Amino acid sequence: MIIKPLSNIRFQAKALLRHLFSSQTKYYMHSPFVYDLMAHVLEQKKESDDLKTILHFRKKRSLEKDKKIVFKGIGAIQTDSIKSLSEIEKKLSAPHQIAKRYYHCIQKYGYQNILEIGTCVGIGTMYLAKANPNGKVYTLEGNKDCYEYAKRYFEEVGLQNVHLIEGLFEHTLVNTLETMKSVDLVIIDGNHQYESTLAYFRQILPFIHEDSLIVLDDIHWSEGMNKAWLEIIAMKEVTLSLDFYRNGFVFFKKNRLEKENFKIWVSD
Ligand SMILES: C[S@@+](CC[C@H](N)C(=O)[O-])C[C@H]1O[C@@H](n2cnc3c(N)ncnc32)[C@H](O)[C@@H]1O
Repeated sequence: MIIKPLSNIRFQAKALLRHLFSSQTKYYMHSPFVYDLMAHVLEQKKESDDLKTILHFRKKRSLEKDKKIVFKGIGAIQTDSIKSLSEIEKKLSAPHQIAKRYYHCIQKYGYQNILEIGTCVGIGTMYLAKANPNGKVYTLEGNKDCYEYAKRYFEEVGLQNVHLIEGLFEHTLVNTLETMKSVDLVIIDGNHQYESTLAYFRQILPFIHEDSLIVLDDIHWSEGMNKAWLEIIAMKEVTLSLDFYRNGFVFFKKNRLEKENFKIWVSD
């Protein structure tokens, strides 16, 4: 999640209204795969011990108003800014309800090779790493201070399966993909701009397989992100896309009769 510049707010409000009127709940879903995903993964209410541990960790961070990080205008937000850990926990890290969905997807589909593009201070990464301690999570971050906090936090929470890589995505993404060889789950959660999002997506494509899932965050954050999303779901490799307004899931399953793009309303 990223902080919204005023210029994008009108676009987001219209996109949200469109989504409210055109999305469907699980009760009208004819695809068995998507129904199962909605009913048994995304709307899963259970809070496991892992999730409780992460929530507790988040609560501690949300009280830290005096510890601050300088953001030096990388990615979609070009101006420099200073944010407290408390603000980061609330505004930049994936909200618990969203990150919990990734956690349950990993458990349901047994994803092993996971890539997160945009670590920030590592809150979202915790859900990915805890979901499958036998899997490997690669996570990329360009802000030195965020990287240092994330490193410390992973030690504090005792995560053994995270590879944290510092540097701009433009320098680290391809090398990381080559190291991973193949990806099961990718979360694109940084540098939410039209060109970069399409470029990252195209770089990832040679490393996916039939059961991979790519998640794009903030797909209706700006006109550029909306355009990138529409171009991505039109690509021939994408056989199923799910637009949850806040983020979008794309699948590459080959056994589908035809490409389907759903707009979905999931209750938390
Ligand atoms: C929305 S935050 C990630 C939140 C994280 N996934 C979570 O849920 O806790 C996006 C992060 O991407 C980083 N970022 C943005 N553009 C980047 C780029 N081009 N290269 C490297 N890091 C970048 C920012 O520094 C920021 O920390």
